[in-house]
Amino acid sequence: MVESLVYWLQLVFHHLPLGVIVIDRGGQVRLFNNRLSILSGYKEERVLGKPFLELINNQDSEYNKLLQTLATGKEYQNLMPESVIMLNSSTDFRANTYAIKDKSGATVGAMALLIPAGRQQELENAIIKAEKLAILAEMIHELRNPLTAISGFVQLLQQKIRTNSELEYLDIISDELKRLNRLISDFLLQAKPGYCSRTQCSINKLLTDVAALVECEASLRNLKINLEIPEDPPPIKADSGQLRQVFLNIIRNSFDALPDEGQLFLQCSGDEQLGIVRIVIRDTGKGMDGQIMANMFKPFFTTKKNGTGLGMFISKKIIDNHGGSIDIQSEPAGGTTVTVTLPVA
Ligand SMILES: Nc1ncnc2c1ncn2[C@@H]1O[C@H](COP(=O)(O)OP(=O)(O)OP(=O)(O)O)[C@@H](O)[C@H]1O
Ligand SMILES: [Mg+2]
Repeated sequence: MVESLVYWLQLVFHHLPLGVIVIDRGGQVRLFNNRLSILSGYKEERVLGKPFLELINNQDSEYNKLLQTLATGKEYQNLMPESVIMLNSSTDFRANTYAIKDKSGATVGAMALLIPAGRQQELENAIIKAEKLAILAEMIHELRNPLTAISGFVQLLQQKIRTNSELEYLDIISDELKRLNRLISDFLLQAKPGYCSRTQCSINKLLTDVAALVECEASLRNLKINLEIPEDPPPIKADSGQLRQVFLNIIRNSFDALPDEGQLFLQCSGDEQLGIVRIVIRDTGKGMDGQIMANMFKPFFTTKKNGTGLGMFISKKIIDNHGGSIDIQSEPAGGTTVTVTLPVA
């Protein structure tokens, strides 16, 4: 048997974690949910179709905010419940009132919601806290990548600077410094959660830039980077700074897992039919067991002495925000393959 929509609506209505009462234009109770029955002690069948005035003291009627909403259309928030209906509950509740309008905009009734106050505040606080933590973590972690790149290049210059062509590296250093400055300003401006500025960009350029950034780190350890990218992959719409960070995080994880002289494969392919671009980063490093794989996206999970455990957490968040996905295949001693899928522009 397939239950009707009305059946489901009734179930949901009665089991909402808040009290609901609706009165019509004439002031009669039209809806009264189970939760409010429990909170007020009035049975639904005793109040439905009856005047709302019977539920409250008559002398309170001119102060009753639900009746005022019905009369004037003015809505109220965060009221003490007794300004709508008396409750027998030890939990702290707040009431909001709303005017119910028909298609022409005329008020045809009024509704009150009784919301557990502690719960609402608790939830709001938890959300604010989680958002703040996520922003802060993201920012701090973002600061590390440019700093690591700068110190890598500085190290290389100290050892090698002989020809003019190596001055090219200085450009990269200055780009990274600009990025660092931008991050600090963003931090001071308290960037909005989930903030990202997307423009059409080329995945080829992004991957080539990333490969150039890690090149010196690789050459110091004799790691081989095999870059395999198509001539003309479909463009993507992305925040290239954020994606660069994702690929740097993934590649650095591979570097950490590889022995000296190990190999990294960086491939990209477009699938026009599915409307996606696939970026595969494969290393022949130490791989992961099931327990590490199950935890690797959790914030602060790390198996490294100096790891923060935020790289994959942040990377997943960024890819999710771009409407893509990250898939991991790995085996202990069998290397790791990370596949990032992104929608084409
Ligand atoms: N390519 C890989 N090979 C083996 N293990 C990996 C690989 N990528 C991730 N891991 C495992 O997943 C864990 C979490 O990775 P994540 O990048 O989130 O943090 P981290 O590298 O430890 O620290 P950081 O925040 O500095 O990046 C790593 O500590 C490591 O155990
Ligand atoms: Mg990492």
